[in-house]
Amino acid sequence: MDQILEFAVELALESGRIQKKHFRDNHSIVHKGEINIVTDVDMACQERIIGMIAGQFPDDHIIAEEKDNVFEDARNRWIVDPIDGTTNYAHGYPFFCTSIAYEVAGELVCGVVYNPIFDELFFAENGKGAFLNGDPLRTSATAEMKQSLLVTGFPYDLSGRNNIDHFTAFLFQAQALRRDGSAALNLAYVAAGRFDGFWELRLNSWDTAAGVLLLKEAGGTVTDFQGEPFDIYAGQIVASNGLIHGAMLRVLREGR
Ligand code: IPD
Ligand code: CA
Ligand code: CA
Repeated sequence: MDQILEFAVELALESGRIQKKHFRDNHSIVHKGEINIVTDVDMACQERIIGMIAGQFPDDHIIAEEKDNVFEDARNRWIVDPIDGTTNYAHGYPFFCTSIAYEVAGELVCGVVYNPIFDELFFAENGKGAFLNGDPLRTSATAEMKQSLLVTGFPYDLSGRNNIDHFTAFLFQAQALRRDGSAALNLAYVAAGRFDGFWELRLNSWDTAAGVLLLKEAGGTVTDFQGEPFDIYAGQIVASNGLIHGAMLRVLREGR
């Protein structure tokens, strides 16, 4: 395992230890918006991760959800979501993770997604495959939308139609839909073949960076809603096993 990936794994495991230790405690919660919250454990995990990165790689740039981010040009960048699935975490619902990615000159070189409750460690290195607890990952072989299990999420910004129209359209096309509150785990699950496809809008780089590398390395396809190359800084994502990708883009374009 590459030294950077090894360190990213160490960060995710450490963050997971903190999350597990305080799971279902009474958390102090701060509202960033009407329904967008942050807990004391998000802050504790982030502080620990940033401290460890600063100790080991003091010159690297860090983007992390709960800090003030300055999007400066940087060759080496850590992209961190200390808890992806904070609402789940705050309610004691065991579906959340830490997501950590490393970008060099604009290219994702490694990604780690860790759910400490299930003790599932997903990791990938550019060109070297994706793994779950050491076992190789492969996307599903489902070729028909009617046999597909799809997943999505809803942005905290409830303005406009949010994701309702797309959700309704897919409801009539797929076998079933899920919405379980962690975009990073959703991507890891598509990589693992548990879901066949995922779409969402208005995401941030820390939600998707590690997950898209997992997905690509597991043989999946990721684009924006128009089928153009996915950009972690742009927000719109369609991720799939590749086989149903065209059908997903059609539903997003034309509805049911
Ligand atoms: C959220 C989760 C959720 C998605 C939201 C994200 P957070 O991240 O990934 O699944 O629907 O758009 O913001 O706030 O739990 O880190
Ligand atoms: Ca997130
Ligand atoms: Ca978060």
